Amino acid sequence: MSNQIKISTGEFIPLEMHKVRIVQKLNLLPVEERLKAMEEAGYNSFLLNNRDVYMDMLTDSGTNAMSDQQLASMMIADDAYAGSESFNRLKAAVEEVLGTKYFLPAHQGRAAEHILAKAFVTEGSVVPMNFHFTTTKALIMYAGGRVEEFFYDVASQVKSEHPFKGNMNIEKLVACIEENGVEKIPFVRMEAGTNLIGGQPFSIANMREVRKVCDKYGIPLVLDISLVCENMYFNKTREEEFKDKEPAEILRTLCDLADIVYFSARKICCSRGGGIATNNEKLYLKMRDLIPLFEGFLTYGGMSVREIEAMAVGLREATDFNMIRHSPEFIKYLVERLDAKGIPVITPPGGLGAHLDARGFLPHLSSHEYPAGALTAAMYIAAGVRGMERGTVSMERDPDGTEVPAEVELLRLAFPRRVFTLSQTKYLEDRIEWLWKNRNLIGGLKFVEEPPVLRFFVGRLAPTSDWPQKLVAKFREDFGDSL
Ligand code: F0G
Repeated sequence: MSNQIKISTGEFIPLEMHKVRIVQKLNLLPVEERLKAMEEAGYNSFLLNNRDVYMDMLTDSGTNAMSDQQLASMMIADDAYAGSESFNRLKAAVEEVLGTKYFLPAHQGRAAEHILAKAFVTEGSVVPMNFHFTTTKALIMYAGGRVEEFFYDVASQVKSEHPFKGNMNIEKLVACIEENGVEKIPFVRMEAGTNLIGGQPFSIANMREVRKVCDKYGIPLVLDISLVCENMYFNKTREEEFKDKEPAEILRTLCDLADIVYFSARKICCSRGGGIATNNEKLYLKMRDLIPLFEGFLTYGGMSVREIEAMAVGLREATDFNMIRHSPEFIKYLVERLDAKGIPVITPPGGLGAHLDARGFLPHLSSHEYPAGALTAAMYIAAGVRGMERGTVSMERDPDGTEVPAEVELLRLAFPRRVFTLSQTKYLEDRIEWLWKNRNLIGGLKFVEEPPVLRFFVGRLAPTSDWPQKLVAKFREDFGDSL
């Protein structure tokens, strides 16, 4: 199946299956002002003000464009604290799309993870997973547990043609269970569209193997479906068995393999919110009473009813192939063009965003100089584009304070769905190429303020030399008066 459109030059381009009806103005500051904004943000892209950002590629979380149907649904929200019709509509959508009877609302993905950790993780627990996500790991550690990641070597290889880098390493999973004993393992977690290795999917064949192991040992299987749209896109386009299946059927197949599914609706539903769904009454009851304690009553879970309505519509739209293919096809367009120029970028192209390999980009920097953080800062200075560091800065230190170098050092340039155009993508490509040509100018970063947990959110850093000023001078030399 061709997912892009062929034009007369022989080139393939992604084609939008929607039109833009509401727009938001953008600013592109002069490069000197971008440097100033980066300095004020402590070289942490989370601390930039959006008014200073041209393309906000920090995340797709809560920044996907909503559909007209979603916006319209928000007008009919039912405000009741208990038994709201909005919640009933969401519950019906969850049952229809995910195939689950029980649903617990939570205000976002990490709130769902908090409930899971509180309900199932105790001191000394071990939670095996294909790969961690930052909030998942932090919450499991906070509950006294530990995360073990079991991926195949290919997951940390930058360049690869492996279609499913997010697969769980089955042999290592079994060894972990045998070694620790079933009683230490509250659940096994699979993350769809594995975020931190570059939005890479797992195959349904692999998920079935994980299910078999969980069945054999009687351990619940938890599936994080926050990024499942992209995973499904790749199940459909890369896994023979699913090429003629509708996304709705693929999603049901995935959910049926898990005991619990949970999600950030900020991602999967192009809305806000989150939730936990299951068909297992026992597991549901273990979590249920924590919702009113930490989130809100069972029929709103910390969300506004408008968000709940948008979630219900967004969940159904998450099975529309024209919607879910949008960002993977833009990502493919950019990644293939960068790769052809020899620029180190994660391949094959994944979901969520284009991921530049900062170790390959800046081999002169060690992990302790935070290459992904430095490249993120340089990207903003060069282009006004805000990406996200997904490398050592995003890691937690070990409990004894030791710095843990990340498996991969990535600058993530997220493509929120239906937000950016092809000309913006071409501008981005050009500025990445310029950075690549001038990579020797980019130096390292060091922490000047380091919070003890999830330090990447609010930590402040500084350059280890005057490299940002040199980068700005080179920009002026090459681009003259241009922004
Ligand atoms: N699971 C995955 C796979 C995620 O990507 C995220 C969030 C969460 C859970 C937590 O959800 O943000 O609603 O609390 N990822 C965002 C990102 C933050 O930018 O990748 P949340």
